Amino acid sequence: MTYEERLQNVAVLGAAGKMGSGILLLTAVEMADLALLPENKGKTFVLHAIDVSPEGLAGLMRYLRAQVRKVAEKKTVWLRKMYADRDDLVENYDIIDEYIFDVLNIVRPVTTMAAAYSANLIFEAVSENKDLKVKLLGDIDRHNENKPWFFTNTSSVPIHLIEKEAGLDGRIIGFHFYNPPAVQKLVELIVTGKTDCDVVEFALAYAKKLRKIIVPSNDFAGFIGNGHFMRDALHGIREAEALAAEKNMPLYKAIYIINKITQDYLVRPMGIFQLIDYVGIDVVKFILNVMNPFVTDEDLHSGLLDKMMEQGVKGGQMSSGAQKDGFLKYKGGRITAVWDVHKQEYVELDKFQAECDEMMGDLPASAVAWKSIIRNKKKDELLAGFFNDLKASADLGAQLAVKYGRKSKAIGEKLVSDKVANEIDHVNTVMLTGFFHAYGPVNNFFD
Ligand code: 3HC
Repeated sequence: MTYEERLQNVAVLGAAGKMGSGILLLTAVEMADLALLPENKGKTFVLHAIDVSPEGLAGLMRYLRAQVRKVAEKKTVWLRKMYADRDDLVENYDIIDEYIFDVLNIVRPVTTMAAAYSANLIFEAVSENKDLKVKLLGDIDRHNENKPWFFTNTSSVPIHLIEKEAGLDGRIIGFHFYNPPAVQKLVELIVTGKTDCDVVEFALAYAKKLRKIIVPSNDFAGFIGNGHFMRDALHGIREAEALAAEKNMPLYKAIYIINKITQDYLVRPMGIFQLIDYVGIDVVKFILNVMNPFVTDEDLHSGLLDKMMEQGVKGGQMSSGAQKDGFLKYKGGRITAVWDVHKQEYVELDKFQAECDEMMGDLPASAVAWKSIIRNKKKDELLAGFFNDLKASADLGAQLAVKYGRKSKAIGEKLVSDKVANEIDHVNTVMLTGFFHAYGPVNNFFD
């Protein structure tokens, strides 16, 4: 089967979820672009968007419409060539509308799994539950005569376990996007001892068409990205708890401080508590639950996450893409309050922010903001200057940041010594391209 043939009939499971909708968008665009090529005229391309939630699927179609417009606006010259035989499409907006129609026309939103029984390629992005994944993939495989290939977006479940339990010998690969898939450049690629060479070859070709950067990870629960993120998040939680105990302050203030340290002082796109909210407290907990039985020298568990779940505070996103409240409360994308786990209510920032900022001390004048530095050619020089000033400072904020930076480096190095990652460069690339960090965690900035 050629690359095009493989992509003529595709299914995405969990298509209305945050990861599923991104994967669906990228795949729909790739399929529509193939369909527009002169050599493919007359061929049918079908993309089954499968999800249990009809409301979620309606939200997905809205998301697709808005995103495909942005995609189309960036390639009107190419689209004009593809629609050259269409005299009715004159203005750019005619062409853009036609392209949106063509992409959406490929997508079939459905709530029944049977739609995947005819697919050649199945992307799996359902919740982080091995038994559910095994059941769905095994069922589809039994009903599908095409011997389909399965690209699982699992965040943490070892691929060889799904392969074995679902009986998919050689036809499954870990193809792990990062949130949001339309923005983050990374795809982690995980093969089992049995993955067919043709599956790998197709995966590399497909990733290249999507302009993604592939980093191979070994097949160990959590892989490289969540191997780092989960430990970094647990460190953040433990630092907040320790700070609250040491300074005899309420936990919500310490959460505010550690979130600020990890964003403004470490020059990251989001603070660690905001990132946990963004991914979803429930999702983080599921991933930790999957990973924990596979590690012997540490406990990947947090009682605070359990408590947040018990209190029904879960973060994550609405189908519109808006952030749901979690550790932090958001208004128009901005943080306005922090959850008080004891009183079970949000405490507005204006009640305690100034006091916490004063405790941390002023950021050095050399401080740089993530957004302004991310594409700056002098990035490394500017970061080195800022981090040197942090190391020289006795302020609480600076000291917490340096300690955090060192821990992040140690986590990265351990991923290599534990043989999850083959080399340091892979760890750094994952954090640069999957988490949009401005610098890799294994660096000399905090030595
Ligand atoms: N779909 C499509 N585009 C999106 C999007 C989405 N869901 N979310 C944001 N964007 C686009 C925006 O439209 C904007 O595009 P434009 O430049 O063309 O206008 C661009 O991204 C930047 O967005 P914003 O200006 O709104 O905000 P930021 O500059 O702060 O960027 C962010 C937003 C890209 C989310 C950035 O904050 C970020 O990278 N944060 C870190 C996220 C992260 O760490 N992800 C990995 C999580 S772990 C994971 O996914 C693994 C899993 O297994 C758990």
